[in-house]
Amino acid sequence: MIFEERTLGNVTFRNRILRSSVGGRMCAYDGTVTDVWRNFELKFARGGVGGIISTTFSTNPRRQSPLEYPTISDKKYVRPLKVAIDAIKGEGCRYIVQIGDPGAATQLSLFPEREDELSSSNGFEPLYGYGSFRREMSAQQISKAIFDFEIAAARVQDAGADGVEITAEKGYLIHQFLNPGMNRRKDDWGGSPERRFRLLEEIVKAVRSRVGREYLVGVRIAAADFNYLPYLNFAFRVPWVWPLRHHFLGNSVETTMRYGLRLKELGVDYLHVVNGYGFPNPKGNPGSFPLEEVKLFCNATRHLSWKAAIRAALLNLVPNWIARPIFGLGWSYKEGISLNDALQFRAGTGLPVITNGGYQMRPGMEAALQRGCDFVSMARALIATPDLVDRFKQGLDKPEAPCTFCNRCCARTATSPLGCYELARFKGSEEDMYRQIMELNTPR
Ligand SMILES: Cc1cc2nc3c(=O)[nH]c(=O)nc-3n(C[C@H](O)[C@H](O)[C@H](O)COP(=O)(O)O)c2cc1C
Repeated sequence: MIFEERTLGNVTFRNRILRSSVGGRMCAYDGTVTDVWRNFELKFARGGVGGIISTTFSTNPRRQSPLEYPTISDKKYVRPLKVAIDAIKGEGCRYIVQIGDPGAATQLSLFPEREDELSSSNGFEPLYGYGSFRREMSAQQISKAIFDFEIAAARVQDAGADGVEITAEKGYLIHQFLNPGMNRRKDDWGGSPERRFRLLEEIVKAVRSRVGREYLVGVRIAAADFNYLPYLNFAFRVPWVWPLRHHFLGNSVETTMRYGLRLKELGVDYLHVVNGYGFPNPKGNPGSFPLEEVKLFCNATRHLSWKAAIRAALLNLVPNWIARPIFGLGWSYKEGISLNDALQFRAGTGLPVITNGGYQMRPGMEAALQRGCDFVSMARALIATPDLVDRFKQGLDKPEAPCTFCNRCCARTATSPLGCYELARFKGSEEDMYRQIMELNTPR
């Protein structure tokens, strides 16, 4: 079933395997896409995937997450993007641009900025984002954020992309509004599941009215937020935290299914179903906890706030043999971790779904399609083997040097060139690993 053509909205894909969003530091400092970025994307198009969903293009001119990721917050970004998209589509591969606003999850910045703290409500968030506190957005700032999405979607269309995907997960701004632990507002933008949904609703309406009924519009949504990291799982069991448990739980599939139904009414063409809150998180990136790389990230950002400084100091202080089992709690690999939720959304909303999380072997993908998913998307397995789909075509069921789901690539994405940092995959040869990373990061 992998190699069947499939249509989403009015767009037909040559097969049912998509490259899921993968971001790296490949753009200019101002967020303009470069030849390195285009060449990276081309590798997957030439490797046989039916379509590519871009990394998150920032809609906000101030919040870029992280530096050297792309943005679409001004019309000057359209032309270079169009050149790249034309080249990718020339390979027979469809291209969808994902747009998003990190809000208070902004991971790094040239200098600390107040804008990087903006969120649904005031609060302290120890892990994601560098800002010491989250700050509640005013109604005016919310309206501006909605307009930023609307205009970004129009630019995506102008750039010749086949569609636009709105990211409502990853602990980014929309997710900060959807999540009851993060959104403690009592006004029109919070307080009940419907009011928490309002930001996403207004964005979808604005985007749809701007791009027209025929244009492909999807939403990337977390079916369930869970406790977004294992330490909260732990806290959840401590009785005195019980009255605060809403902080730790987030939405469950019962609520997000209602959101799915409403998104269908609003004219969304597909749902890209994932799980968990924040990036990376064990429900979205099944695999191991990349302790060394997380330390690297925390040390590289510690100058940005006192929270970031304390976060780094604590991580440096605790020996690895203690930190590893504690932070590694709850992290494990599971193939197709969101599959059951994706199927539930398929059945419950009737919308086409993309399932994501932990795919690499052909039989697992075939089974997901067989059971009713429309597409399977992959990120880490394709970073390891960009031409995986072509390998399947040649009769292989799995790559020769498979991704181990170590999550080093995820934690390195903000600090290092994007690539596979799992030495074991290169039989211990640093030179081979270096070569592959650099090959993914050249402008040729
Ligand atoms: C290096 C890296 C960068 C990523 N960047 C993004 C991103 O910009 N936007 C996004 O929505 N997801 C991003 N993701 C998440 C992936 O799209 C995907 O959901 C996740 O890795 C789980 O899928 P997988 O098991 O196939 O890797 C990124 C993942 C990796 C490994």
